[in-house]
Amino acid sequence: MSAAERLGTEPPGESRTVTLLRERAFAAMERAYAPYSKFRVGAALLATDGNISEGCNVENASFPAGICAERAAVSAAVARGNRSFDTVVIATEAEEPTPPCGICRQVLEEFSPQMLVMSFTREGREARWTLDELLPKAFTPQSLDRR
Ligand code: THU
Repeated sequence: MSAAERLGTEPPGESRTVTLLRERAFAAMERAYAPYSKFRVGAALLATDGNISEGCNVENASFPAGICAERAAVSAAVARGNRSFDTVVIATEAEEPTPPCGICRQVLEEFSPQMLVMSFTREGREARWTLDELLPKAFTPQSLDRR
């Protein structure tokens, strides 16, 4: 089943998998290192084989050296051998659910263009998109093909 189909078929309430991913994302958020922005982010990335990898944002005194939670989660997943993803759940302390930044969309796209992206606030507000929706007309590995 594609992520687009799952968008419409998730039962009312929340599946056990989403609940687990949400818990893991908020736990990762608690470990974020964000002394400069004070905007903590956690991500839990579900691979198609069922593994879950987490990431949090890790900032740096040299500001551009910081990394977002979603990309940190992708790095952790790839390091354990996962390259195919079903869902990423993002957790923040923002008022409204936040989508991943453009660079993170591009990094997720490399591995799983059809994946589901979910975002939660601490109060339980939720948003969900497919990566396709968030990054239409993406530059992909195939874009590098030459004659
Ligand atoms: N950040 C993430 O970790 N993920 C996003 O999708 C958006 C932004 C981080 C980067 C920086 O550490 C802080 O949030 C403020 O932008």
